[in-house]
Amino acid sequence: MLIMSKPSKKKRAPIGVFDSGYGGLTVLREIVSTLPDYDYLYLGDNARAPYGTRSFSTIYDYTLQAVKYLFEQNCPLVILACNTASARALRNIQQKDLPNIAPDNRVLGIIRPTAEVIGDYTKTDKVGILGTPGTVKSESYIIEIHNQFPEIEVHQEACPIWVSLVENGELKNAGADYFVQDKMEDLFAKAADIDTVLLGCTHYPLLSDTIEKYTPKGVSVLSQGKIVADSLKDYLRRHEEMEIRLSKGGKRKFLTTGNAEEFSSKTKVFYGRKVKAKKVDL
Ligand code: DGL
Repeated sequence: MLIMSKPSKKKRAPIGVFDSGYGGLTVLREIVSTLPDYDYLYLGDNARAPYGTRSFSTIYDYTLQAVKYLFEQNCPLVILACNTASARALRNIQQKDLPNIAPDNRVLGIIRPTAEVIGDYTKTDKVGILGTPGTVKSESYIIEIHNQFPEIEVHQEACPIWVSLVENGELKNAGADYFVQDKMEDLFAKAADIDTVLLGCTHYPLLSDTIEKYTPKGVSVLSQGKIVADSLKDYLRRHEEMEIRLSKGGKRKFLTTGNAEEFSSKTKVFYGRKVKAKKVDL
């Protein structure tokens, strides 16, 4: 007698969200508000942050380790909620690693979805991108924006000190004023008629009050959290094969490679409320 075994059904699992540290929480916050039913597993590589000033190969190695870790936790879908990791590691992971390590899983970044909508905002066809040195050097925003909107002129400014300002809670004081004004003047010196400025680093939305202070009137300052959340919603609508692999129940778990207590104490600022975290090693 032939015994037919039932095809094994994979258990549903959370969406993995990765960042070098705290910044991805500003993106997760918007994703959770747009797609509240899913479960999420957040991983911040705080022990090795910031990534923004690190070499291409280091950012790639660290990001790949994090993606593998989230796959081992069964996450079928991982969002790189970090511009630097999206700029420096995503393409290699998608094209080189994924087919070998987990061909049915997916890793998505946050640069392409942002680039796809930037043309809806600019009227002068001149946009400014503020990001880490890693993101700026990769020219990923220039490449992705030109794929969609070849007519848009893209001007970039690297603002490495802004990540330290945010991590240290220096959001609205003389120090923040000094470093923000300096970079905004450098950006607008490149093209005075920029009418859209993208905060292309997940930390920068926390400095937005100070950034707005030094932004010429009429210029839009865009944060990408909501843009990424809407794009993920659309992705899940179009990819039923992935959607059915995701668990629902509204659970959120937070992991850090750094100090769990310190991570928890900063979640109020980045995520809007304090949450508990667990320390893990990659
Ligand atoms: N989260 C990173 C980004 O969006 C910035 C922080 C870092 O340099 O690690 O680019």
